[in-house]
Amino acid sequence: MRFQFISTLVSIAALAGPLLASAVPNSGLATRSNPVTTKTVKYVTSSDGLKIYADSNDNYGKPAIIFTHGFALTSAVFDLVFENPAFAASYHLVRYDLRGQGRSGVPTSAAGHASKLYADDFAAVATAFGVTKPYTAAWSYGGTVLSDITTYLPSDYLSGSIYLAAVPFLGDSLASVVHPLTLYIIPAITTPTENATDWEAGHTNFTTSIFSTPDEVPIETKWLWRGMQSSAPPISYELAISRTVDANASFALGAKGYPLQVIVGTDDLIVNGPALVDALQPHFTKLSVHYVQGGGHSTFYQNSQEVVDAITKFVTENKWTGGSN
Ligand SMILES: *[C@@H]1O[C@H](CO)[C@@H](O)[C@H](O)[C@H]1NC(C)=O
Ligand SMILES: *[C@@H]1O[C@H](CO)[C@@H](O)[C@H](O)[C@H]1NC(C)=O
Ligand SMILES: *[C@@H]1O[C@H](CO)[C@@H](O)[C@H](O)[C@H]1NC(C)=O
Repeated sequence: MRFQFISTLVSIAALAGPLLASAVPNSGLATRSNPVTTKTVKYVTSSDGLKIYADSNDNYGKPAIIFTHGFALTSAVFDLVFENPAFAASYHLVRYDLRGQGRSGVPTSAAGHASKLYADDFAAVATAFGVTKPYTAAWSYGGTVLSDITTYLPSDYLSGSIYLAAVPFLGDSLASVVHPLTLYIIPAITTPTENATDWEAGHTNFTTSIFSTPDEVPIETKWLWRGMQSSAPPISYELAISRTVDANASFALGAKGYPLQVIVGTDDLIVNGPALVDALQPHFTKLSVHYVQGGGHSTFYQNSQEVVDAITKFVTENKWTGGSN
């Protein structure tokens, strides 16, 4: 019954794909079409027993790309990317909610946010979906997971990485790659004892600042993304943002030619694109940079087709075959 249902969906997708594509050319801002791609959800158990929400489009046999989301949000931000018919047909797409955020379990102490656990979560999700040698596509805070992976997993584990305005580190170093606004927003949305007035203002500010043209984003999307920011208790976000993550292993792999693509909007209010590129350039000998003209912090949403095309080009042209252990 289920298979019949899925095959019906696939035939609908085959018919609707070109139709939808011509109806909304290059528009990331159009209301989402009905999801026509497969989505298999799993609650994956990590090394410490925590349950990690993950889903996949089940496109086994195609190159795998595992997506990690930005701070206080969830992997649902990638809906447009996962529902892009041509992209979903070409890749095994996997995404998950980071620990302490979204639909994943919530550690109650800093020990539950150890860097190794973030690497373990990633590996558990990859294993659960039968993924080997994945690419990673990370947005914003999600970029720190590349640092966790390269520190704790074998150096030949990945095929390459995409940074969607993503950052390799947290803490004081963050100031070198983000705009001053971000340094205002982070405490505004992570201080659990803040009064409701400041808390709400901070979250509204953050949600608005994620987009370069917020007035053009449907309210359904803005409220969905804002709602995601309240999926975990306030303390969980404070623990997640203050965790220790070390980019050294990632930089060491970059020096050996590990391929990294940076995709960043020219109008990003959160991450400073040129400063991010300056910070990564000395460490990654194989760095590709794609600037999205007029793009904000969420180019994969606002400029979805351009970003999907850039990722496709990078994945086609780059595959890490180095590493040893
Ligand atoms: C909320 O806290 C801020 C300072 O953190 C203060 O200026 C403001 O008056 C407080 N608002 C309320 C309603 O208590
Ligand atoms: C966010 O806060 C900053 C700093 O106070 C302010 O300059 C900016 O206008 C605010 N943006 C929004 C959308 O509220
Ligand atoms: C990472 O590299 C920096 C700069 O080379 C160094 O100061 C720091 O001690 C290193 N961290 C670790 C944990 O090795």
